[in-house]
Amino acid sequence: MKKTNYSEHNRLPAFAEPLHVGRPNIGDVAEIHRRIDEIFQRRWLSNDGVVVQEFEREVASTVGVKHCLAVCNATVGLEIAYKAAGLSGEVIVPANTFVATVHALQWQGITPIFCDIDPHTHNLDPDHVEELITDKTTGIVGVHLWGRPCQVAALEDIADRYDLRLIFDAAHAFGCSLDGRMIGGFGTAEVFSFHATKFVSCGEGGAIVTNDDDFATRVRQMRSFGFKGSDNIVSVGTNGKMCEFPAAVGLSSLKAMNDFVKTNECNYHAYKRALSHIPGINILPYDLLERNNFQYVVLDIDENESRLSRDQWLQVLHAENVLARRYFFPGVHRMEPYRTRDPFAIRRLPVTESILKRVLVLPSGTAVGTAEIETIGEIFSQASESAAKLRTQFPAMLPLPTQPLAPQKRKAA
Ligand SMILES: Cc1ncc(COP(=O)(O)O)c(C=O)c1O
Repeated sequence: MKKTNYSEHNRLPAFAEPLHVGRPNIGDVAEIHRRIDEIFQRRWLSNDGVVVQEFEREVASTVGVKHCLAVCNATVGLEIAYKAAGLSGEVIVPANTFVATVHALQWQGITPIFCDIDPHTHNLDPDHVEELITDKTTGIVGVHLWGRPCQVAALEDIADRYDLRLIFDAAHAFGCSLDGRMIGGFGTAEVFSFHATKFVSCGEGGAIVTNDDDFATRVRQMRSFGFKGSDNIVSVGTNGKMCEFPAAVGLSSLKAMNDFVKTNECNYHAYKRALSHIPGINILPYDLLERNNFQYVVLDIDENESRLSRDQWLQVLHAENVLARRYFFPGVHRMEPYRTRDPFAIRRLPVTESILKRVLVLPSGTAVGTAEIETIGEIFSQASESAAKLRTQFPAMLPLPTQPLAPQKRKAA
């Protein structure tokens, strides 16, 4: 990459096409077409079809759990899991997560109580969880953010001592392990997302996994309107079923899973090499003794050392068509309806507040390779050298974006 002149107006971005966070990984397209042809031939499109059943068996065996119940997406999966676990009253949950973790509680009238996070794991701080328990608390929802596990043993201990249900939002953590055990088998249940942005994807999809037979039976019924057999409704329910088509996409994605991991791992190490010399830019580490999906390359930016704030780095990257993201800014506690209802949550979430201002997620996955990452490394090097100038050019803090910050397409000459 040639030396960037930051004074030059209308210069072209480093990348002609935007690089996205979470661009879908696609499995074998010919196999997907074959499966879809078979679905049409069978004329069995939904309601516990054979492809969904195969997808459920594959997910269950990959993570080593007794029951996998595929659902239309993880948000509905969380709603069903919370209901089947009997959550009510207050539930302790992090604010540094995608809003769905919390909306799925609020949607059924359960009050989320925001808990601070551990600065190293970015996940629930068990000491703070214990401080927040009241006589209205019925459960804890942990999120294995970025696929890096929660402190499961400490949370299980608290749940046992206070007789609380423990559910994990494992949307990011398919294919990851803790102490050699695959994520999926912890707590009462865990919920995976197979959304297009996720490591293994159905387009839209999710799964509730559990080793608890009774819980699995309740989920199976609630996922399908409360039906137990035909014409027999035994509980309140919704329509959370996965149909055959996303399951077909998911099966081919599962088959390619090890290749996706290899690409992600290779990208993670390439980013480490490319950014290791940039002051104040640290990549959140994965525990290499565990299994990881390496789906998220997450920067923790120390603006004192890097001399640019996280939002200034975001603007530098967007100007080059590197569409980095401020996940999960500004934090669910600052979103409605939570902000109005609990305006003082920010006071008890100092670590959450600080992390949300430091984190930046970079493009990875199969749409990105070593060459692109080397160019991104160059962008960081040159911007770091020009930090004084860039500080005058880009505001230190951005409001929530209402439109893209960068040109998405290179204009025709
Ligand atoms: C942490 C977390 N939880 C839940 C969800 C919701 O997943 P889905 O899009 O499958 O409903 C997401 C999705 O991005 C997520 O990141």
